Amino acid sequence: MISFSPPRMDKKIVDAVVDTLYSGWITTGPKTKKFEKMLTAYGGQQATLCVSSGSAGLEFALRWFGVGEGDEVIVPAYTYCATANVVPHCGAKVIFVDVGEDFNISVEAIEKAITPRTKAIIPVDIAGFPCDYNEINALVNREDIRKKFMPETNEQKELGRILVLSDAAHSIGAWYHGKRTGSLTDITVYSFHAVKTITTAEGGAICLNLPSPFDNEAIYQDLNIKSLHGQTKDALTKTQIGNWRYDIVELGYKFNMTDIQAAMGMVELERNDNDMLVRRKEVFDRYTTALSAYPWAQLPTYETPEKQSSYHVFLLRINGINEEQRDEIIREIFKRDVAVNVHFVPLPMMTYYKDAGYRMPDYPISYDNYSREITLPVYYDLTDEMVDEVVRAVVEAVEEVVNL
Ligand SMILES: Cc1ncc(COP(=O)(O)O)c(C=O)c1O
Repeated sequence: MISFSPPRMDKKIVDAVVDTLYSGWITTGPKTKKFEKMLTAYGGQQATLCVSSGSAGLEFALRWFGVGEGDEVIVPAYTYCATANVVPHCGAKVIFVDVGEDFNISVEAIEKAITPRTKAIIPVDIAGFPCDYNEINALVNREDIRKKFMPETNEQKELGRILVLSDAAHSIGAWYHGKRTGSLTDITVYSFHAVKTITTAEGGAICLNLPSPFDNEAIYQDLNIKSLHGQTKDALTKTQIGNWRYDIVELGYKFNMTDIQAAMGMVELERNDNDMLVRRKEVFDRYTTALSAYPWAQLPTYETPEKQSSYHVFLLRINGINEEQRDEIIREIFKRDVAVNVHFVPLPMMTYYKDAGYRMPDYPISYDNYSREITLPVYYDLTDEMVDEVVRAVVEAVEEVVNL
């Protein structure tokens, strides 16, 4: 059976984890701080705070900006639930908008959805392909859009416009106009969940890149304290001799990353460019070459002059089929011992959001993308022979189900 997304596990990762386990410090400490510095250098943002998950990072960023009751946050209908769920967690309303043919949020749809209540937009780099950030950043900075903005908190007054909070759960390592995700918007959140290109089993990071007059380093320090219950000293500092007394200065959260996670992350990040992304791109190229022979195969864009993907997952669409046929094709692929997936079931189709009144016909491109989509596996240990086997299974399954 070819599995869908096993993590890359080798001696380097195991040694890094074991070393941490025996180091005398396993929760947030020197390794997490070092990983943060590495991430800052990698993404080119101003500062980076590691957190317990991408979901925690998104919620934390919205809470920092003071998003709450009565506010609206614009989110693509086509994403994983984490992007949207954090919005009602903060007490605000999700405003879903449709996506484009490239699976990413439509800038036109964003513009139509902006109201005086809009506090943030969360674009998602689906499958690792960056959104149209120049257009999104230009839109929130447009004079008429800035005039609509109704700031309430100090942070909102200081920014003076809608916050662009980019969900880069899939796209660490991707490029956009010569810059990496992390430094493309005000705040970017990475996920290091087990299936992501860089993993710490669970984990995430908040990349701070707010414009002046914000002091990103000061915000980092503030979020760092907030990520540990608002405690003035972290556990490591408290263990230093005579340094036991601490204060709780505000109502914080428990969002910190452990040094065990950071140890994994550092190994992964160090070899991302020269090793992991190279192999992932080879897999993408091999799928593309093999499947371009079939007119029914709609292949994803993953490189343009301005954008380069992080090659997270390969989103194949089959031309001319409906949702039932897609499901049947997937059953046939599984029968051939190949695991595939669907990224994603659009959120307005999910019970929670359906019950909240969202309707799928309002997001026709999201539905069309979803109904014909089959996600093919991409990971470091997927060999050329395995890629060929996946292709064979897909071709046979499509030919079995669709009368070509
Ligand atoms: C698009 C997207 N956003 C956010 C997340 C949340 O990340 P995490 O699982 O680290 O909370 C995920 C991960 O599954 C995701 O796919």
